[in-house]
Amino acid sequence: MIDFEKDILVTGGAGFIGSHVVRLLVKKYPHYKIHNLDNLTYAGNLENLSDIEDSENYTFVKADIVDDSAIDKLFAHNEFDGIIHLAAESHVDRSISDPMAFIRTNIIGTVNLLNAAKDHWAGSEGKLFYHISTDEVFGSLEDGFFTETTPYDPQSPYSASKASSDHFVKAYGNTYGLPVILSNCSNNYGSHQFPEKLIPLCINNIKKKKSLPVYGKGENVRDWLFVEDHAKAIDTIFHKGNVGETYNIGGLNEWQNLDVIKYLCKIMDSKLGRIVGESEKLITFVKDRAGHDLRYAIDASKLTNELSWKPEATFEAGLEQTVDWYLENEIWLEHVISGDYQHYYQQQYE
Ligand code: NAD
Ligand code: DAU
Repeated sequence: MIDFEKDILVTGGAGFIGSHVVRLLVKKYPHYKIHNLDNLTYAGNLENLSDIEDSENYTFVKADIVDDSAIDKLFAHNEFDGIIHLAAESHVDRSISDPMAFIRTNIIGTVNLLNAAKDHWAGSEGKLFYHISTDEVFGSLEDGFFTETTPYDPQSPYSASKASSDHFVKAYGNTYGLPVILSNCSNNYGSHQFPEKLIPLCINNIKKKKSLPVYGKGENVRDWLFVEDHAKAIDTIFHKGNVGETYNIGGLNEWQNLDVIKYLCKIMDSKLGRIVGESEKLITFVKDRAGHDLRYAIDASKLTNELSWKPEATFEAGLEQTVDWYLENEIWLEHVISGDYQHYYQQQYE
């Protein structure tokens, strides 16, 4: 039996960002045991990890973070050195139709993990609870950038639930001395993202010549970051970040939604051998998202200056790689869009 140097618990490792984080850790740190805890909601998919599932330093645990006794037992049976907490309900539109699911997982689930860490780590040195959060907790920007000291002003049930979880994490650091770190990141894109989010939804619809639903006028701005750069930032912060600190992560890459969609159409017309401008005709303006934040933009200079992280992928290269991945992984896409997705899509768009 291998004597692993560290045991790391990643929650939500079967989701989009979590699977990139798990893959990076399993490959880069063969001397760490990586435990992936996920309850496989519609967004969790073990196919995301098929390339590393047989690795000796990887193990999967199916559990719900809302189930406090299951979480407590897991901590009683394992000596985790650190937690990287990504498990969450993550889609803003779903939070508008079902806020309670977000309260349960994002708030209660996070507090259950904090309680388990607090109780089982009492008196131990060198532990770390790393909470992954979003720039949406800061609300909508008119000008300037979100920094680590921007006041919280969440506008959607999703961002309110994430803001609440951030506050609980900080409160457990302050009140109980739990060693915590947080990061707040901008919009991610890349392979394995569930096609409810703007970019994979449009890639799928362009491929199938279905309409591309643009909320409002398509003028909302997001700061896009390639998911592999986010995973590298998480690795950097986990290993080099200062306990009690929070770090912003972003791509310095602001785009209006309509421009992102037009750019995707251009890439895909060329890859699919369509005439220039053909896919743009699929663009359809639909009812705006309720409470739609106008602009997000991150100042990540603290992370760059203190921990030497910066995004590596250009949007052009990252987006092309993403499109290629979706075109080459038709079986993955067909699996995730069968069943419940059809129902969700109808409710949301038709
Ligand atoms: P995702 O929806 O793709 O994946 C979430 C994962 O959590 C899934 O595998 C799901 O099965 C699991 N999960 C959900 N509820 C659970 C529960 N009760 N118990 C155990 N597992 C559960 O999400 P994502 O886009 O990969 O986001 C991951 C984290 O990063 C979230 O905390 C999100 O708030 C944050 N974040 C996301 C983005 C983004 O652009 N996607 C940006 C910044 C921060
Ligand atoms: O900023 C970080 C956040 O980014 C994460 O915390 C969230 O988990 C993640 O889902 C993402 O939130 P957004 O709401 O910004 O992402 P989404 O892909 O849903 O939407 C991106 C933009 O595109 C947003 O302005 C809404 C718009 N949009 C989205 C969809 C799904 C459309 O115009 N049409 C659509 O069909």
